[in-house]
Amino acid sequence: MLKAFTSTLVLLAASIAAAAQPAPVTFDSTAKVFRIDGGGSSYVFGVNARGELQQIYWGGRLAKTDSFPQARTMPEWASFDSSYTNTPEEYVGWGSGLYMEPALKVTFADGNRDLELHYLSHTTVANGFDVVLKDIGRPVYVTLHYTIEPETGILARSATIENRGATAFTIDQAAAAAWALPAGHYTLNYLTGRWAGEWTLNQEAVHAGARVIESRRGSTGHQANPWFALQAGASDEEHGEVWFGALAWSGSWRITVEQDQLDAVRVTGGFNPFDFGFVLHPGESLETPAFYGGYSAHGLGGASRLLHRFENAHILPRTGAKTETAAAPRPRPVIYNSWEATEFRVDEGGQIALAERAAALGVDRFVMDDGWFGQRKDDHAGLGDWYVNKEKFPNGLKPLIDKVHGLGMDFGLWVEPEMVNPDSDLYRKHPEWVLSFPGRPRMEQRNQLILNLARPDVRAYVLGFLDKILTENDIAFLKWDYNRNWSEPGWDQLPPVEQKRVYVDYTRSLYTILSELRRKHPKVEIESCSGGGGRVDLGILRYVDEVWPSDNTDPFDRLTQQDGFTYAYTPQIMMAWVTDSPHGINRRINSLSYAMLSSMQGSLGIGANIVAWKPDEMALVKRLIAAYKQVQATIVQGDLYRLISPLNGSEFSATQTVNSDKSQSAVFAFIHSTQEGRGFPILKLKGLDAKAVYTLSSIEGKARAGTPETASGAWWMNHGLEMDDDFRGDLQAAAFRLDRK
Ligand code: GLA
Repeated sequence: MLKAFTSTLVLLAASIAAAAQPAPVTFDSTAKVFRIDGGGSSYVFGVNARGELQQIYWGGRLAKTDSFPQARTMPEWASFDSSYTNTPEEYVGWGSGLYMEPALKVTFADGNRDLELHYLSHTTVANGFDVVLKDIGRPVYVTLHYTIEPETGILARSATIENRGATAFTIDQAAAAAWALPAGHYTLNYLTGRWAGEWTLNQEAVHAGARVIESRRGSTGHQANPWFALQAGASDEEHGEVWFGALAWSGSWRITVEQDQLDAVRVTGGFNPFDFGFVLHPGESLETPAFYGGYSAHGLGGASRLLHRFENAHILPRTGAKTETAAAPRPRPVIYNSWEATEFRVDEGGQIALAERAAALGVDRFVMDDGWFGQRKDDHAGLGDWYVNKEKFPNGLKPLIDKVHGLGMDFGLWVEPEMVNPDSDLYRKHPEWVLSFPGRPRMEQRNQLILNLARPDVRAYVLGFLDKILTENDIAFLKWDYNRNWSEPGWDQLPPVEQKRVYVDYTRSLYTILSELRRKHPKVEIESCSGGGGRVDLGILRYVDEVWPSDNTDPFDRLTQQDGFTYAYTPQIMMAWVTDSPHGINRRINSLSYAMLSSMQGSLGIGANIVAWKPDEMALVKRLIAAYKQVQATIVQGDLYRLISPLNGSEFSATQTVNSDKSQSAVFAFIHSTQEGRGFPILKLKGLDAKAVYTLSSIEGKARAGTPETASGAWWMNHGLEMDDDFRGDLQAAAFRLDRK
């Protein structure tokens, strides 16, 4: 009875919401204009007089009554830039003197390479459209998929390219989508890095010409991440217009941001055309990845809050959540990981000693890292041989797993399924399984080669051994690693013209393995790691619950990395371990509480050699883990405000998060080095309910003497939170929580 009543209420609420909201998608058949509304944005495109699908408007949400005339093509600019190249099409084929980045470029069997896509038909789908384009002469059909997420207004775009003819053609280049903005002054934001130095935010004025961000590495890469944000004019962290996008693809990708000859901007992204070539036989189709795009009128902070909400609500899996339709994934268990403590020297006794300590700290999950399998003593051997090493674990993994369970934690295991060491039984048996150009020298970075996952037999092998490990052992979590990039992407079992499809098939196979594994083992959670943050994108995030942002766990470096990371990705997935000081990467000395507070800004883990910790260190970490758990959901799934960015050598930094009903907020403040006696700036908090009353409590550190224990949201936002006068020095940290009374 109660259930029936609840569902009636839900239906009622839904119908009220539907009545209040204008229909999110409309097609004006007279003007041939498509309009999609969601959240605070509207996206409008239409069929122009030539029959091309042209972008018309992308920005703040318009009134329901507003309408647009038919799309007007841009004029030609003398005899050098035709109207065709000046007009921003939704998905433009290369032909007719197009000098801008094409969305699609093909080579036909007769050598013809001209492609002009015109509107053919469309269907309305839930929250969007499928629009079919066709070449003016040849049977190349492209269906453009549009779906908007009604709350955030984030639009998913992708394309399906079909060959409905009788002869094969080759796709030389295929984007997922192109976005366009009118002539103006813009600042481009994008993320770059390197191993142990991921997540650097770059901000630069957009000038004439193209800025290419990409990976040619076969995977997402540490060096650039498939995300961009364009700010208009004076837009900053909290104000002004921002258009942003993220590509859901974990293989080689490219995003080209170009300002054209008339100062307009286009952003085209999808499969990286470098070394690309996909033969489409009669009747076949190629589906591109999705390119998500969104708009915020509240600066970069507003843009990232939309992305975080969208990722939590619509991208991440729901492993372990109460229902598949839970509003958000469950906050990550606090983990312990053995890597920095033991490296490859894992064995039953050593791991049990660490597990006992971890349990005493209040850790939820114990993860054994590299070294447990095959003949793995260092990184020269073992990858590919996924049997338990008998010298290290004479009785298999069961005694360790049972012990971990007995201590009240669940158990996780490191794997690197896509790799093989030449010194392994697997490679000796199947040397033909690796990506290579036979007869040519090959790179063996970290002494390993890449299994060609695109091959059905390799895919079956990888899925098979992972399924076996998970079936035979009570394992809650896999840390899925990937420690090198492609160098010789050969697949010589296929005819030469077909071999380049490896760029598509490999990544698709990876997704298939992950989804099949999740289907068979629905409770198992997975982390995407690639020597740190080398494989983080909205494609892999459909299949994994968290990521490892960097092998650099220096807590000061992590502040800037975490700042960069959160422009594109939610703190929910941002694992952050506390490790020993000095950390090898910078040899910098920091306190344990500083390291704890740095990691508590994301999903907390411990990765230190905790058997060596003294009682006071154990007590401090135990206390802070308990305090973290009380505010974790707010920190990792709330609205994030970057109050003071640690970028550009800032001596201070601070973040604040507020949960969705504004009943709780968490604040973190960090000092790099106090200079000239400067005190910490007053933190004017954001996002609180001005009228509500909040109680301030310390997680670590003190507020300034005289700070009220309770005050209104208006007080905390307008007067602000002041740090204690003694909050000075090098590498200092403080954290607070506010709870609505
Ligand atoms: C990669 C990961 C590390 C660790 C090692 C193990 O570098 O990023 O966290 O798992 O591999 O070899």
